[in-house]
This record gives sequence, C-alpha cells and structure tokens, in this order.
Amino acid sequence: KPALTANAAGHLLLGGVDTVELAQTYGTPLVVYDVAAIRQQIQAFKESLQANGLRYQVSYASKAFATVAMYQLVTQTGIHTDVVSGGELYTALQAGLPAERISFHGNNKSRAELEQAVDAQVGVIILDNFYEIELLHTVLLEKNATCWVMLRLTPGITPHTHQYIQTGQVDSKFGFDVDSGQADQAVQQVLAIPQMHLIGIHAHIGSQIFGVQGFELLANKLVDIAADWRDRFDYVPEVLNLGGGFGIRYTDVDQPLSPATFIDHIAAAFKKRVALRGLALPEVWLEPGRSIVGPAGYNLYTVGSRKDIPELTSYVAVDGGMGDNIRPALYQADYQAVCANHLNAPLVAPVHLAGKYCESGDILIDQAHLPAVAPGDLVAVLATGAYGYSMASNYNRNPRPAVVFVENGQAKCVVARESYADLTRLDQSYL
Ligand code: LLP
Repeated sequence: KPALTANAAGHLLLGGVDTVELAQTYGTPLVVYDVAAIRQQIQAFKESLQANGLRYQVSYASKAFATVAMYQLVTQTGIHTDVVSGGELYTALQAGLPAERISFHGNNKSRAELEQAVDAQVGVIILDNFYEIELLHTVLLEKNATCWVMLRLTPGITPHTHQYIQTGQVDSKFGFDVDSGQADQAVQQVLAIPQMHLIGIHAHIGSQIFGVQGFELLANKLVDIAADWRDRFDYVPEVLNLGGGFGIRYTDVDQPLSPATFIDHIAAAFKKRVALRGLALPEVWLEPGRSIVGPAGYNLYTVGSRKDIPELTSYVAVDGGMGDNIRPALYQADYQAVCANHLNAPLVAPVHLAGKYCESGDILIDQAHLPAVAPGDLVAVLATGAYGYSMASNYNRNPRPAVVFVENGQAKCVVARESYADLTRLDQSYL
C-alpha cells in the first residue's frame, strides 16, 4: 500500500501540506508533486550505480514531466536529462540546465532542432537513422562545428508491456536495427565523419517494465556489439546506454522492483560479459523517466455529479479527466484513488470514477475503491506524475491544471492554471 498520511482532520498530507488547503488555494483539478519523493528516487539511482562500482550517468527522461521547475530540480541534483524535441530543449535551457548535461533524442529531429542542439552545444545527440546522420553532418559542416553523438540501436528485445510503449522490438520505428546489419553500417558511416565524436551506443527496450531479464539481455547484447565492433572496426564504445523503462506501482497488483534491484542485475550482467569478451567495464547510462516522477505525482479533483444505475453500476464524476490524464483512455492504464478530505473513512462498493470530458471512454478509474463521496469532496488519484501533465491537452477547451510542488510543509505553484484567455490566445479571427 502506498504510505499516505493524514492530519487530525483526516486530510491527505503531501510533503507536509494539507491537500484540502491546496485545493482551496489553487483550485482543482490540480497536479501536486512531492519533491522529496523525486529527490529520493534520483538519489536511489545514483547510489545503486555507485555502490556497484560503475562509472555512470543518470539522465532523466523529461518527456515524463517537462517544466522549468522540474528541469531546475534536475539541475540541483546534478544528473543529466534527455530531451526529445526543440520545445523540451528550449525549456531545459530556459531553466538553466547546463547544455552539456542534455542528451537529445528523437526519431525525426528536424533540421531546425538539430541546429538548435548544435548551437546550444548539447552534451550528446542520439542518432536514430541514416537520414539524421546525413542531416546532422550537413548542419555541422555549415556551422563548422563538431558534436558528440551516440547511435540508437534496436536490439530486438521485447519486454512484456503495452504495445504502444514497447520500443526495442525489431519492427520498432526507433533506431538502427542490429540483426540486419544497419547498425554496422551506421557505425562505419559515423566513424568516417570527423565532425562527429561517437561516444557510445544506446538502446531503450520499453516502458513500465517489472523484470530484470530484458535489461540483462540488453546489457549482454550491448557488450557483444561493443566487442564485435572492436574486432571489426577497431572502435570500442565508451558509453553503453540502456535507456529507461523501470516500472512503478499504479495499483496494488503492480510489484515494482527498486532501482537497486534493477541496477544490481544490470551491473552483474555487464561485469560478467565484459570479462568474457575481454573489454574494460564501460560507462553505464540510464534514462529513467516514469520511475523518477510517476510515484511523486498526485492529481486532485473535486467530486461533482453522480449517476446511479439501479442494480448495475455507479458513476462518480470529477472536474478533470482525459485532458489532464490521457493514460486510462489511451493505454487502459489503471490507477488508484483516495478521498483526500476523508482519507481514512470506510470504503464502499467500487464506482466508476468518471471525468468531465464528452467521451464515454473518459473514465479515470474503472473500479475506484472510495468512501461514500458527495459533491465537493476531494479525490486524489495516485502516481500520476509521469506522462500525466506532460500529455495533457485542451480537449473540450478545458484549461490545463496548475502544477504545485510541495516539500517540507511548503507549497509552490510551478505552473499556473491556464485561463480561458490562454485558450483563445493563438486563435485568429476569420472575419
Ligand atoms: N529513454 C528513451 C529513449 C525513451 O524512449 C523513454 C520513453 C525513456 C527513456 C523513459 O522511459 P520510462 O523510464 O519513463 O519508462 N507515454 C507512455 C510512455 C512512453 C515512453 C516513451 N519513451 C506512457 O504514458 O506510459
């Protein structure tokens, strides 16, 4: 069970702050992040990598939650970050994240995005395809610049997770295929380009993964590729980047492994395989996104209407939904909720926790185990911190929620609630 705490009034506390007060101050729907939980998770990754004696880098995959405040927090902790668009890169730079700590990913970076990355002198650009090798080469020649690159490989490893969030299987849209020889061709091309410094290879096998096996296979595979390239091309990648994908608990059925468990297995696999292949232990990079911010996030909603269909089912509707959390509708993702103003009240028969959007599929939780709730009650959906706000939309012209950071009894609004004026800001009159 997630360890949730209440004050004497039975109100859920986050970061020592009363969520009922948060709702009164900032309104709902509201996205709340427990900053200490984010810090702890980052620390857990760093400590486990260090404890295994690895040279390492942790790079936060910021697509999970990308705002100025989050990049500032990342900057404070000293880790790196991944960006996947010019917009994420821009936001990270705005936040003051040093460019050399930024890795630029994506399967179709535009020329403008590559120029932006080269101008900013980002730490590394992860090359995804042959078109991009050529495009980046052109940009570097034009700018008389050089840059660090990695090759993204498709290792042919399929973790058991939702099909939309698998990325390492052979027919993926991402990366150079290993088995067909594309990766060999790519490394030869890049090594022949003096403007590019190839620091290593990257692979990402998927997301919300609960087992160590995919990562062990991947570690072995990357070491084998490194040994193979040493023998054939006289090139040894310094960095082996295993991507992200570490699963988290959304509901009680999820049994996530700790960063330490994943990392102990990954480190053991690396050590064994490099010994076997006669290589030095490489620098290991990981790119956790979901596991850094997911468990730390909570979406607060106010209960409104209710529909009871006698002897069949009940809907309890809240003032947000698929616009602030698309994951249930898009991936059939499951969540748990609590009643934040009566945290310890007895539970009643489960209800459908419905959103306010004009879609039958806008159900946040199919079977929500809540106390008897009435209009005005506050519901907190748990573990919404990854791919919630970052995938939010203005569907039905609902303004996106505010985002608040809480820590040590203090709350700080880090993204203002959108206004109706924001919604029409870019609209232009046709008359
Ligand atoms: N590195 C690369 C290259 C990635 O493509 C991703 C995620 C990550 C790292 C971070 O993976 P994580 O640690 O967060 O699992 N919107 C989907 C998830 C898409 C993940 C895409 N790539 C969802 O809401 O489940």
